[in-house]
Amino acid sequence: MNLLPAVAVLVFTLASVACVTQVLRLPFSQGLRPRARTHRNVLRRPNALKIPVRSPGPLPDPPPTPTPKDVKLVNFNNKFYYGPITIGTPGQEFNVAFGTDTPSTWIPTVHSPPENLAHHHCRRYDNTSSSTYRANGQEFSLVHTLGLVNGYLSRDSVTIGDITAKNQIFGEAVLLPDGLQDDILTDGIIGLGKRDYTENDHLTVFDNMVSQGLLPDSVFSFYLNRFDTADPESVLTLGGTNPSYYTGKFTFADIVAPHRWQFRMDGVQVSELYGIFSPRPFQAVVDSGTSMIVGPMEITDHLNENLGGKPLPGWPKMYEFDCDVVGTLPDVEFVVNGETLSVSSKDYILKLQGEGQTHCYSAILGRNMHDEEAPVWILGTPFMRAYYTQFDAGNNRVGFAKAKHTKLELELFG
Ligand SMILES: *[C@@H]1O[C@H](CO)[C@@H](O)[C@H](O)[C@H]1NC(C)=O
Repeated sequence: MNLLPAVAVLVFTLASVACVTQVLRLPFSQGLRPRARTHRNVLRRPNALKIPVRSPGPLPDPPPTPTPKDVKLVNFNNKFYYGPITIGTPGQEFNVAFGTDTPSTWIPTVHSPPENLAHHHCRRYDNTSSSTYRANGQEFSLVHTLGLVNGYLSRDSVTIGDITAKNQIFGEAVLLPDGLQDDILTDGIIGLGKRDYTENDHLTVFDNMVSQGLLPDSVFSFYLNRFDTADPESVLTLGGTNPSYYTGKFTFADIVAPHRWQFRMDGVQVSELYGIFSPRPFQAVVDSGTSMIVGPMEITDHLNENLGGKPLPGWPKMYEFDCDVVGTLPDVEFVVNGETLSVSSKDYILKLQGEGQTHCYSAILGRNMHDEEAPVWILGTPFMRAYYTQFDAGNNRVGFAKAKHTKLELELFG
């Protein structure tokens, strides 16, 4: 296998892994049952206790108190994370990636032409076998890194964990770009990005869950594990944070854009090396759907070169490292709200196996993106592996706390 294309695909690739016939069946976490539900079960048990009841009828069910819900995700080679969802009634199963920088949710449809890749996904949405399907029909088209995804919108129930957003607008993808073919593990994407509702009134799955009263808090959080380590799983928590997966306090940053989880970042530095690389302010976006940390070329080149990386021939802006020294590389620090968030080489170096050899590449990649305010960084999964991230829509902020990786892993890595 040629490694280089694999590296290229690492960048911004969300979709697809070869059609696994079985959808993931991960046990959803136990022990988080709402108390109210237990109460209801007792009330419902027929003739449980023959206590004379004075009220004229049975007590009405109290509304169940929602609690945060953990959804386990799978880490594919540190390249992307995906998990199971269902759409429709009865539920049709899909594996999807969870992207925090897109508000759109889509999966392939049975109504795709045989000559297109969408037709060859083994899991495709079939509206005719769902009792909760509602037509919409409006066309959609969105830009994926590898090309355009085209189709039309429909409404149906979308279930993540056991939380069901009813009447969810989503895309039935009729046409998928051919580039997705190489690598088909996921069927589509759940968009956990922010939607600018001045432009579009379709609620995201998460916003629907909030507005339908299904979550205790309008927050969701990610714990992303490291591939090939003792970390047993990755977890998306809907409706709150899960303290089993982080340590210490959160550093918060206010969101500054209506349509992205975007905040001000005060600088990027390597204290151990040459001090401040970039004392100027940036904008930054956290994205669970990007497998790299992407920043202005001038800065990422400088950073990678000073860390000892060699530019990869034919792949500008990508750097290779000697695998023997990556353990000794200093932390790269992202300065947010006066706090220094350090990412170690365990997370900013990607190890890839190929032709009996291990290659080490920098996950810090150059690509110039500019906002009205400042250059923009995308803090993708290498950053999120280091920092448990909460997306707090209620307070319009994101929060970062050190991810708690397993003890066993600490021993393995020393
Ligand atoms: C299912 O979708 C197709 C294509 O959009 C549409 O023609 C058909 O009417 C839908 N079926 C039902 C039962 O609504």
